[in-house]
Amino acid sequence: MGRPFYVTTPIYYVNDAPHIGHAYTTITADALARWHRLIGDDVFFLTGTDEHGLKIQRAAEANGLTPREQADRTSVRFKEAWDQLGITYDRFIRTTDPDHYQVVQEFLQRVYDSGDIELSTYEGPYCVSCEGYYAESDLIDGVNCPIHNRPVEVLVEENYFFKLSRYEQRLLDWYEANPDAVQPESKRNEAIGLIKSGLRDVSITRTSLQWGVPVPWAPGHVFYVWYDALINYCTAIRGKEELYWPAVHHLLAKDILRFHCVYWPAMCMAAGIDPPAHLNVHGYLLIGGEKMSKTALNQIAPADLIADFGVDPYRYHFLRDVSFGPDGDFSYEGMVARYNSDLANNLGNLLSRVATVVDKKCGGVGPAPTAGSPLAAVAAAVVEDTASAWDRVQPPEALEATWRLIREANAHLETNEPWKAEPGPAVDAVLGDALEVLRIVALLVQPAMPSTSAEIWRRIGLDGMPGDELLPAAAAWGGYPGGLPVEKGAPLFPRINVDR
Ligand code: MSP
Repeated sequence: MGRPFYVTTPIYYVNDAPHIGHAYTTITADALARWHRLIGDDVFFLTGTDEHGLKIQRAAEANGLTPREQADRTSVRFKEAWDQLGITYDRFIRTTDPDHYQVVQEFLQRVYDSGDIELSTYEGPYCVSCEGYYAESDLIDGVNCPIHNRPVEVLVEENYFFKLSRYEQRLLDWYEANPDAVQPESKRNEAIGLIKSGLRDVSITRTSLQWGVPVPWAPGHVFYVWYDALINYCTAIRGKEELYWPAVHHLLAKDILRFHCVYWPAMCMAAGIDPPAHLNVHGYLLIGGEKMSKTALNQIAPADLIADFGVDPYRYHFLRDVSFGPDGDFSYEGMVARYNSDLANNLGNLLSRVATVVDKKCGGVGPAPTAGSPLAAVAAAVVEDTASAWDRVQPPEALEATWRLIREANAHLETNEPWKAEPGPAVDAVLGDALEVLRIVALLVQPAMPSTSAEIWRRIGLDGMPGDELLPAAAAWGGYPGGLPVEKGAPLFPRINVDR
């Protein structure tokens, strides 16, 4: 087995259906998981649904369902969306899974036994959408949630509190000792800022609702949804902690930075385990500059775009165009433009012109590449840049590198114009080199576009699947053997007309 690589998405609330924001994090995690499998790592990829709490209970009431029915119905919709998008998770966790109850209870009992959970009364502004308390000073105009810009409610409860205030210095020391734990740096600074502004103890149980994991030492109390939810990352690797913990990559958006980058590391410390090694925080996907929300009626379901573009172009667009870190703006026009330039004009065109010329000049049999090809050095640099970009969780850079190779290969064909030349060794050399580029490209695009990758592989006559042999060795120049049948198929990415 290779090096362990554990990657997680947030677990999504089941009050509503998946939209392209949820899909963005999930596709990024999937592409990372696929890349790490390609390089031979021992991957464990976790996603799932967060099913307890007031938000879900209220959504269920509004829909005339029990919380369990609401959770069952919506959880399936996430699963279906991920199946449609080709998400290769190893576990889809539901916080209503029995093993999760057990791990949550064990984890928090440990913290209770160590003295870091105490009974107290709390009154404060609470945002149900966030499922979180705020300080008065955090509120917009003194009344609205800073994330949802909607009025908060004042909750008063006798609750068990996690003594977060005791962890200020330990958290700051941890950040100091682990300068790369939270990426990008702007998000790390934000987390450090939150800690330095002072940490108050946080309420971690509820008596006002039943829909949660029961507190083992206090009948009538359930754990507050966030404290149950964060522990899902432990449930999924139970018994395999030595392998996968703490070397995890948690992917999340900035809306839940406070929970992941402040509360969660402190909880881990309190439970006697190491904090997570990597927290990769990205921005929001905006629609016309606005955050997607139910109330703004601007949520887009992945299926709507898949119907127009197909699964691989969908995955490609979000991975290529949304830089991991800052906010990104989605537009349909931008998606069409990216599709036409990168997929129809560059990759699709390379494949179809090579197959056409191999058919005409080589009787449909692909020649072998040449050792001294000018494309060999480009390919080697591109493979290295792609690997480095995935390593830094920068999918746009990984794909941009791969497209450099595609553009160079197209340019090489245009310079040499094999379609105008007589069949012979010179034509064979140019086409063999282009086929080798296609083979390497099929490997490099696999994390983003798995079906396209397999289809290119098949059309250029290769057996098995891209990835049967591990990278980087598989991507070394000269792997295309030549003498294989090359298929002239229908265009992989027919151009999309913008003024439909
Ligand atoms: N249930 C909590 C997470 C618990 S994790 C232990 C939660 N769920 S959520 O359904 O609201 O999902 C939030 C996550 O969905 C974000 O952190 C992000 O990964 C993704 N996104 C939701 N909307 C998004 C955008 N508009 N843009 C980008 N990602 C978005 O919070």
